[in-house]
Formats: sequence, C-alpha cells, structure tokens
Amino acid sequence: MRHLITPLDFTVSELTQLFDLADDMREHQAQYAHLCEGKKLATLFYEPSTRTRLSIETAMLNLGGRTMGFSDAGSSSAAKGESVADTIRTISCFADIAAIRHPKEGAATVAAQFSRIPVINAGDGGHQHPTQTLTDLLTIRNLKGRLSSLTIGLCGDLKFGRTVHSLVNALARYQDIRFVFISPPELRMPDYITEYLDDQNIPYEEYIKLEDVIGRLDLLYMTRVQRERFFNEEDYVRLRNFYILDAAKMSLARNDMYILHPLPRVNEISVEVDNDPRAAYFRQVQYGVYVRMALIATLLELI
Ligand code: NCD
Repeated sequence: MRHLITPLDFTVSELTQLFDLADDMREHQAQYAHLCEGKKLATLFYEPSTRTRLSIETAMLNLGGRTMGFSDAGSSSAAKGESVADTIRTISCFADIAAIRHPKEGAATVAAQFSRIPVINAGDGGHQHPTQTLTDLLTIRNLKGRLSSLTIGLCGDLKFGRTVHSLVNALARYQDIRFVFISPPELRMPDYITEYLDDQNIPYEEYIKLEDVIGRLDLLYMTRVQRERFFNEEDYVRLRNFYILDAAKMSLARNDMYILHPLPRVNEISVEVDNDPRAAYFRQVQYGVYVRMALIATLLELI
C-alpha cells in the first residue's frame, strides 16, 4: 500500500506517469467519470483550508467516488483528546483513502504508520505539502513545457511556508534547476533544505529585494507570510507587507515569466497583477484538481 507523505515518495519517472495521466484526465474527463465508483475518500482537516480540501473532494467526485470527513478539528473527537493514530485506525474501517491536514509536523507520517488505507498528506505544519507540489509541477510542465533548465524564484515566507519546502525538494531532482530564494532575513529557507541542496550540488542564491533579481527568473513562486506559525503578532505585522508584487515590479520581469502562488493570497500580489497574462495562480488551482484525480486513481491502484 502506498501513501503520499512527501513528494519524494514518488520517483521522477512515476511523477512523469502521474502528470501524463493528469493531462489525459484533463483532456478526456468523461472517460474517467466512473473509475472510483463505490470508493470513499475521507478528509481529516485539523487546520483551515479552502482549495486543498475542496480540490481533493472534487477530484474524488469527478472520478465517481464519494467523500466524507471533517473540516474542523473542533467537531471531531480530536476535541475530546483522541490521537491521530486512533482516528486513522477508525477511518480505515470507513473509507478507502484518506487525506489529512494537521498543524503538527509529522502528523501525516504517524497517520500512515497506523493506517490500513492510503494516506495523502494535505499539509503537516510548516513541513510539507506534497499535493500542492504535484499541482505546482503539473502547472509548470504545462506552462513552460518542461521541468528542467529553469531558474525559479521563491519569494516570501520561506521559513514557515510548507509549499516551498516540498517544491524545492521535488524540483531538485530535475536537471539544470537554479533556485533563487527571496525573503527577509528572518524568513530564510531553513537549513535542512539548503543543506540538502548543498549536498546535491544544486545552485541557489539568496536575495532580500525582489527587484534585484526578478528580471532573471523563468518562474516566480510567491507565498503568503504564515501568520499562524509566528510566535508573536508583532513580528507578523512587521513582515506581512515586506513583498507586494505590483505592475511596476512586473515591468522588470520577462514576458514569459509566469507567477505561481499556492493561495490564499493576502497582500503579496496586488490585484492589478491578476489580469497580467503571466499571472498563472488561478490556472494552477485548476491543474490541482486533475493532478489529485490522477493521484487518487494511482494510490487506489485503479490505473
Ligand atoms: C497553502 C498551505 O496550506 O500551506 N495553501 C494551500 O494549500 N494551497 C499555502 C498557505 O496557506 O499559505
């Protein structure tokens, strides 16, 4: 039985197969409409979510399966003190596959250890968010036609943002990737990620000002400052508007530099940028559904 806890749980060639399947599902959606008939997906969300939970549920519904779950830990037995291990043992009696989001790093790993059904990590604290990464990679592959030979800027809260941690881990396995990390000094990429890049001899640079480097990027991945992971509100208030991508900054970027964002957006991308043809963050949401369809079908071994 397979789980998806980090993007590294799939090899590069397995990812290629997954993305090919996602593209086929996008082009021939009706052909897959009954694939998961009789199957149930449980969503166990201990943290807020709009896109990830509804995207995973939409994916299952598009495949003809059904969904159940909770979107608020307060309405589950977690409020009574039940452990993740006991909850997943229970859910294993009800559903065929589960997606879990939890504020604690490692929660999805624990769930997978005790589960009798495939577990999808839908975000564990500031650690990893592999289905967002699958979404990001499929989007990049479709926008740029490749996942290699790219200079990728990641900007914002690189310390607490789990999406960037997963994305860097995943992209590091492709050829000729160069990373540019753009953050305030307090929100730098964690050492465990930069050490991993050093070990693999993958080049990265660190910048504070977006204007200094935006003109060299093939892609710019913007992120929100993760208020809920800060230790104090004062630091958040000081850093929340550090980056605001607006039309003036976009005028320094190349014509083929796409902007991605896992969303939700707060202030870091001005709404005036939304109409720029390089703004790809809402297209990214759509790709997320197809890649999660492909993932569910793959983990349920229906393909
Ligand atoms: C991200 C997350 O939850 O980590 N959102 C998402 O799932 N698309 C990013 C964020 O919350 O900033």
